[in-house]
Amino acid sequence: MPGMRWTEAHIPTLRETPAEAEIASHRLMLRAGLIRKLSSGTYSYLPLGQRSLSKVIRIIREEMDRSGALEVLLPALQPAELWKRSGRYELMGPEMIRFKDRHGKEMVLGPTHEEVITSLVSGELRSYRDLPKTLYQIQVKFRDEPRPRFGVIRSSEFLMKDAYSFDRNEAGLNANYQKMLEAYRRIFERCGLAALPVEAETGFMGGSDSHEFMVPAASGEDTVVRCSGCAYAASKEKAAAQLAKPVQEGSPCPKCGKPLALLAAIEVGHIFKLGTKYSAKLEALFLDEDGKEKPFVMGCYGIGVTRILAAVIETRHDDFGIQWPAEVAPYPAVIVPINLSDAKTRQAAEDLYQGMAQAGLEVLLDDREVSGGVKMKDADLIGFPIRVLISEKTLQKSSVEVKLRCEKETSLVTPAEAISLVKNRLDKGSSPVG
Ligand SMILES: Nc1ncnc2c1ncn2[C@@H]1O[C@H](COP(=O)(O)OP(=O)(O)OP(=O)(O)O)[C@@H](O)[C@H]1O
Ligand SMILES: [Mg+2]
Ligand SMILES: [Zn+2]
Repeated sequence: MPGMRWTEAHIPTLRETPAEAEIASHRLMLRAGLIRKLSSGTYSYLPLGQRSLSKVIRIIREEMDRSGALEVLLPALQPAELWKRSGRYELMGPEMIRFKDRHGKEMVLGPTHEEVITSLVSGELRSYRDLPKTLYQIQVKFRDEPRPRFGVIRSSEFLMKDAYSFDRNEAGLNANYQKMLEAYRRIFERCGLAALPVEAETGFMGGSDSHEFMVPAASGEDTVVRCSGCAYAASKEKAAAQLAKPVQEGSPCPKCGKPLALLAAIEVGHIFKLGTKYSAKLEALFLDEDGKEKPFVMGCYGIGVTRILAAVIETRHDDFGIQWPAEVAPYPAVIVPINLSDAKTRQAAEDLYQGMAQAGLEVLLDDREVSGGVKMKDADLIGFPIRVLISEKTLQKSSVEVKLRCEKETSLVTPAEAISLVKNRLDKGSSPVG
């Protein structure tokens, strides 16, 4: 049964605005009962938060699989020795969580997985015939952030989708990189995010080309530049490196010279052409057609899975609450019977609920004995894309009242029409353009 009754669910909405939350998405995730804080930088996902998170994960999985990538799962617990071999044990600094196990062996909690995947693949892929291959996982990462903040936007433990491509040569890497760029576009679009790919620096990952996917938002910790004259878009750091001086509003575009505009953004994804940096260091070699052993030419591709949820909310909300896109909403629709002591209303709500469930729709029936006002406030706060209201008044016209969360108008429709409306909304969401 895909539906759920409110009284059997756990949806602890809060009236008050939590004091510690600085930005809208953090406030709303707490208020709508999606997450709860355990300690600085760590969060539990409550049932509604977990539902949306699973939907984001499903989208990512579908698009990764569509691109031909293969899902794996790597250990979060890693020997320090591997990081010493790649040269990043020192480089990572205090962000990497380090400790000794009971035998005194130095261990770390994985902040990222280039080392692990490279060492795995060196034993698994041996010939050019095994290439190209792209492996990905959706897994928890640990980073002892100097300043965890904004809820799940910057936390110390978070979910990442990380993918790694292995090729014989640069041409193969370039093709894989392009494929991933397209997969990322589809993922973010399906999640309802206006993510802009921008040229980025490679930082401590190393390698040549890199793009970040940036969601413009006033609260964003990153700054991107866009050219007013051409398609150039880059991170502020990248633009500064290209211009060899600090960038400010109006600085000349490195490509065409027209003025640059600055905008704040949230980084939701980052892809890199690594080349042979890790494979050479860790001696991950394959036998090429010419009989020579060569290091894999690698790419790596990250998405902040939990950060996506916050970025969606940060860019899709109003004064009353979240405005979920249908594909990642915890439930695409809520049924709100206004007066449950009215037998007709109760029956009509129950019938619609059963009808939607039979149509395979994940609908929430607000069967609480509370006022219509409270129900509607909560529906707006949680942000169900479609609200179906049933009252004695609507039933006099043999109808129910449908309202889309992102529109003001309501319309009276038959229960059957309400069902196909929710269905259409979902179908529209799952067929991305481009
Ligand atoms: N502390 C964090 N909490 C939640 N998500 C994160 C965090 N750090 C990184 N991410 C997400 O993981 C993705 C891939 O990780 P990557 O190592 O490229 O991030 P990063 O460059 O360290 O990000 P940032 O500059 O925000 O610290 C990022 O694009 C981001 O969406
Ligand atoms: Mg970081
Ligand atoms: Zn330009």
